[in-house]
Amino acid sequence: MIKLNRRIAELKPSATMAAEARATEMKEKGIDVISLAAGEPDFDTPERIKEAARRALKEGRTKYTTVSGITDLKKAIAAKLKRDNQLDYEPGEIMASAGCKQAEANVIAALFDEGDEVIIPTPAWVSLAAMVGLSGAKPVLVPCPESAGFLLRPDDLKRAITPKTRGVILNSPSNPTGAVYSASHLGEIAKIALDADLWMLSDDVYEHISYDGLPPHIFRVEPRLRNKGIVFNSLSKTYAMTGWRIGFAAGPKEAITAAARLQGQNSGNPNSITQFAAIEALTGPQDDVRKMAEEFRARRSLVVDRVRALKGFKLPNVPQGAFYAFPNISELIGKSVGGRTIESGDTMAAIVLDEAKVAMVGGNDFGAPHHVRISYAASRENLSAAFDRLADFLKKLN
Ligand SMILES: Cc1ncc(COP(=O)(O)O)c(C=O)c1O
Repeated sequence: MIKLNRRIAELKPSATMAAEARATEMKEKGIDVISLAAGEPDFDTPERIKEAARRALKEGRTKYTTVSGITDLKKAIAAKLKRDNQLDYEPGEIMASAGCKQAEANVIAALFDEGDEVIIPTPAWVSLAAMVGLSGAKPVLVPCPESAGFLLRPDDLKRAITPKTRGVILNSPSNPTGAVYSASHLGEIAKIALDADLWMLSDDVYEHISYDGLPPHIFRVEPRLRNKGIVFNSLSKTYAMTGWRIGFAAGPKEAITAAARLQGQNSGNPNSITQFAAIEALTGPQDDVRKMAEEFRARRSLVVDRVRALKGFKLPNVPQGAFYAFPNISELIGKSVGGRTIESGDTMAAIVLDEAKVAMVGGNDFGAPHHVRISYAASRENLSAAFDRLADFLKKLN
């Protein structure tokens, strides 16, 4: 056995990517799997964005760029932050990266260190704790109960803060719960973070897939937090551009420059063609964004109704954003089929994949072992067929 770096040896593969990979593998073998595991829109990238990429290729924009992205892209990101979030950032306070994931990994690695603690309200997107762990800091997972809408309660945040706490990572709308924070709730959280002098990291990747207008931004609610605040966003979900790999971080210049220094050493600039396509995405007409959000809204109604009709699935909170339902399956724990017993969301997802040929993601790695995540980034037709299969599967349990 080879000796690996200790942090890498402890690193788990991403549960969401693993679930999607298992479904793909089965599909490649000719098995008719319906995947509700994906964390990406099923729509194609809008044509105007593809055309901008073709243009960039034709013009030979094929060279290295500034590590943190070309100035025109940073200006487009600054204009987006002003238009959508009423936040003011200079190009020098912005770093474009190969997806929000890379921006987050680099900023987290730049800001936090051994001995630090970083609070992550849970259930949370699986990669956040991994990124904090890789920086050497300790992820402190603070449970946000289903009865509280999966939102971080201010008292729970206060209790989790120790002299070692350096930051909090918020994600609204949330992957996996679809929970969205109100302005007044954000105000309470912001006050606690300010008092404790914490970094506030705001992951906004689902902001445009939100069913009551754009969610309020914590740095708009409490502008003083901006001095120790980082905005993370991405074009992946908003413009159906997951494969293009483009996202960004915006924050105080010193923090962004440090993160870009790391990016410069470990990967370099995000793809040059993608950067030109991203300028078009951010500055061109935004009708496609609204159209996609409308379709997600229709699917949400379908999914909420169908999940609630499944025996043993409980979905007390209607998701307010993102494209996931996160039902509670505690009633099914201990039930069996074909000699296999459901012990958690993970075993449930594995059994459902084999027995019903529907892929979803178990909640264990999100910090919610009695839940499963169902993505509705799938056509209404596939969603209906998947729920028919699930209903049949549940009849077989005993
Ligand atoms: C909450 C959250 N943040 C960030 C990302 C990563 O997005 P990107 O494709 O831009 O790296 C995801 C992707 O699933 C996500 O769910």
